[in-house]
Amino acid sequence: MGCPLQDDVVLTAPMFAGLDRESSSALVERMKTHDFVRGQVLFHEGEPGDRLYVVRSGKIKLGRRSNDGRENLLAVLGPGEMFGELSLFDPGPRTATATVVADAVILELGHAELIAWLEANPGVAQHLLQALARRLRRTNEALADLVFSDVPGRVAKALLDLSTRFGEKTDEGVRVAHDLTQEELAQLVGASRETVNKALADFAARRWVRREGRAVVLLDLDRLERRAR
Ligand code: CMP
Repeated sequence: MGCPLQDDVVLTAPMFAGLDRESSSALVERMKTHDFVRGQVLFHEGEPGDRLYVVRSGKIKLGRRSNDGRENLLAVLGPGEMFGELSLFDPGPRTATATVVADAVILELGHAELIAWLEANPGVAQHLLQALARRLRRTNEALADLVFSDVPGRVAKALLDLSTRFGEKTDEGVRVAHDLTQEELAQLVGASRETVNKALADFAARRWVRREGRAVVLLDLDRLERRAR
């Protein structure tokens, strides 16, 4: 496991919100821990699901594929974030495919165990609802952006969003090690790789960002925020 439970980022997941460390830690210890490497798939869209997951380290992308094979990313999740709960609250197949983007340690909890946990700790339901509501809010915003914003605006927004999860302050600005390929970044923005690249090259020419392989340094947050609006 490697890290003491009281510092465990897993405890920041919504199903532990507002609970004392002792009972939360007891549940974490009952959860199964797995190591995954980049490219591994935890589950596919359309499969039945009977468990949810919490990220301890690494990154997971949630994606959907169209009939003609194109892919779209709904989200990239990092430490402390939960996924796989929709098929519990709305019984049905998985709504997205979960794939490892950066080597990850993931904890899993069976849906039946979560239900028992909610019965024992009813206050937790409010935090789960809050997490779902926040996700819906973000999804609505992304939907509106697809209709109303241009690609550079959406690229700026995606970079700022990734920085809230994976950003690290440096002397220059905020370094965001997103671990996404150009193709994956384009799938997250919902545009072609060429158009997204063009927007990034333009941001780099203006010195708003600096590209570093699968990372980007945000040099001018103000300009990016204005561009994202
Ligand atoms: P489930 O449908 O069980 O499996 C896929 C998971 O992806 C889903 O549960 C959610 O946890 C997650 N997911 C689906 N849609 C979104 C979204 N728009 N934003 C973030 N996560 C999502």
